[in-house]
Amino acid sequence: MISLTKDMETGVEKIDLQHKELINRINSLVAIGERAASKEETQKTIDYLGEYVVKHFSDEEELQVKSKYPKYPEHKKLHTSFIDDYTKLQKEFAENGNSMDFTMKLNNSLIVWIVKHIKGNDTEFGRYYKAQGL
Ligand SMILES: [Fe+2]
Repeated sequence: MISLTKDMETGVEKIDLQHKELINRINSLVAIGERAASKEETQKTIDYLGEYVVKHFSDEEELQVKSKYPKYPEHKKLHTSFIDDYTKLQKEFAENGNSMDFTMKLNNSLIVWIVKHIKGNDTEFGRYYKAQGL
């Protein structure tokens, strides 16, 4: 289980609240993997997280556009490539169901990526956003 640690806080209330929800949904997915839930239930949880990722990224990008964040284009690229990878994983699960490969990709690539992204890219944006007096 992951929790929102101090070094993941961006200081932007809306983003921090959304990260909390994102982590809740990630944890649901991890929990479901651990108790080997049915394919249907797992699929639902994968989609539930995926939907929120899309919503959260787009809200975050909106704040970046509004605050004229200079690193917006590269930040958006990171989001887009994550969504592409996630979509691939979603398809892979729909076709093959649970597998070692799936669980490994989920835990090692996607979850690690999100935590790193929040700690690095998102806190960097948070500092910029607050420096604008927003
Ligand atoms: Fe981000």
